[in-house]
Amino acid sequence: SKKILVLISGSGSNLQAVIDKVHLSDNAGEVVAVISNKPDAFGLTRAQEAGIATDVVVSKGIAKREEYDALLGQAIDKYQPDLIVLAGFMRILTPDFVRRYAGKMLNIHPSLLPKYQGLHTHQRALDAGDEAHGASVHFVTEELDGGPVILQAKVPVFEGDTAEDLAARVLDQEHRIYPLAVQWFVAGRLQMQDGKALLDQQVLSPAGY
Ligand code: GAR
Repeated sequence: SKKILVLISGSGSNLQAVIDKVHLSDNAGEVVAVISNKPDAFGLTRAQEAGIATDVVVSKGIAKREEYDALLGQAIDKYQPDLIVLAGFMRILTPDFVRRYAGKMLNIHPSLLPKYQGLHTHQRALDAGDEAHGASVHFVTEELDGGPVILQAKVPVFEGDTAEDLAARVLDQEHRIYPLAVQWFVAGRLQMQDGKALLDQQVLSPAGY
């Protein structure tokens, strides 16, 4: 079975979805460890309750990204993972770090990429008057939130929505699409090739979903 390592910074509800739908329900993938950059992340408790190893590589007080990523890399390499899943991991990774795990690292971002890379995506969608919003699973490349998209989920924006309303609606969909992409990966169906995401050797073009 493929070894999955999940990086978190907070609540870990996406981690929970991966635990429930992959770790506990799919023999092809096992979450071998969860690493947080924040000692108080609730996701660590979720991992412990599932009997999964946890580690904290504290980012606070480390000014240099290279320095942090070296520590993070050491913590990750102890587990020799086949796949690294960024699940609400709120740190920018250095190009060297990303290259080391090229084709083996996924992220979920709360927008319909390429729209709204970066932070405050829900408020930005509201401010723009968008009628639809959503989430995207993508391979991580050196370009922040710019790697090839694997899967997207779209939700409607309703009149009177707050950023919190919208975030909750999007998060529900994240819990559906992230485990699915992880299942594809551990089944050997998903790859990154020449900067493109392939499922069963077919180029994915999620803009058409
Ligand atoms: C999710 O909405 C995820 O898409 C977002 O943080 C939330 C984490 O929730 N990620 C980013 O904004 C990455 N830049 P969770 O901890 O409950 O999974």
